[in-house]
Amino acid sequence: MGTAELMSDLLQIERIGKRFRGLKALDDVSFSVEEGGIFGIIGANGAGKTTLFNIISGAIKPDVGIVRFAGVDVTGRAPSRLCIAGIGRTFQIARPFPDLTVLETIRVAVLCRVHAMRAATERAVAIAHRFGLAQKLDRRGRHLNVLERKRLELARAYATGPRLLLLDEVAAGLRPSEVDVFVDIVRAVASENITVLMIEHVLAAVFALARRVVVLDQGKTIADGTPQAVAADPKVVEAYLGAGYAAP
Ligand SMILES: Nc1ncnc2c1ncn2[C@@H]1O[C@H](COP(=O)(O)OP(=O)(O)OP(=O)(O)O)[C@@H](O)[C@H]1O
Ligand SMILES: [Mg+2]
Repeated sequence: MGTAELMSDLLQIERIGKRFRGLKALDDVSFSVEEGGIFGIIGANGAGKTTLFNIISGAIKPDVGIVRFAGVDVTGRAPSRLCIAGIGRTFQIARPFPDLTVLETIRVAVLCRVHAMRAATERAVAIAHRFGLAQKLDRRGRHLNVLERKRLELARAYATGPRLLLLDEVAAGLRPSEVDVFVDIVRAVASENITVLMIEHVLAAVFALARRVVVLDQGKTIADGTPQAVAADPKVVEAYLGAGYAAP
């Protein structure tokens, strides 16, 4: 890859390594994501996908390696600073604040960018509409069902005003018709010039959305390419997809 291409990459993961006691959760992982579009990360349970998001978003520090965001080394920065810098994320297990309402939860995230309360409330209401939560503004986190929690998790991450949005299995546990709703939402978000990096086990969703897919297996990158190329890669079939998988 030439220098000009490197300079336009929004995110660069360089030789990241992370151990948990004896276990190498990530081992020399490198890839980059250019600005614009949707990118996928797939891999079996325990492959290291969420660990990678935790490192990119600052929740944990890598043992070695560099995370570069918009050309700046941001490795090990605090999550709040990375959020301000433009990295938003969802959590694999959505745990909404039990006592905050939908509106309050989204507003907290909006306040990351908008500091006037009234303007923040208006923006939060608009975002709730956009993510299908207009009828649930006053519902508390503890009373949300799975789909509503997922919607709120996405709305909250979006509300921080990210330039890069990390989605950790937002389609998991949803019915096919609900997955379609999320595919549409993610596509709409990406059309606003937000780069999306999504971890997803619902392969139909990743393959429908992503322009490029990185495959992790036991902490290592085993493939990086278009959905078609990755789905046809024997290493990926062996490690993850299984012999019976029919490429989309
Ligand atoms: N805080 C931690 N302490 C110890 N081990 C951890 C920790 N976080 C992750 N691991 C281990 O690191 C490995 C990678 O975990 P990770 O959560 O990144 O996988 P994943 O690819 O997101 O899997 P899944 O698809 O199940 O979400 C697993 O073996 C996991 O048990
Ligand atoms: Mg995970």
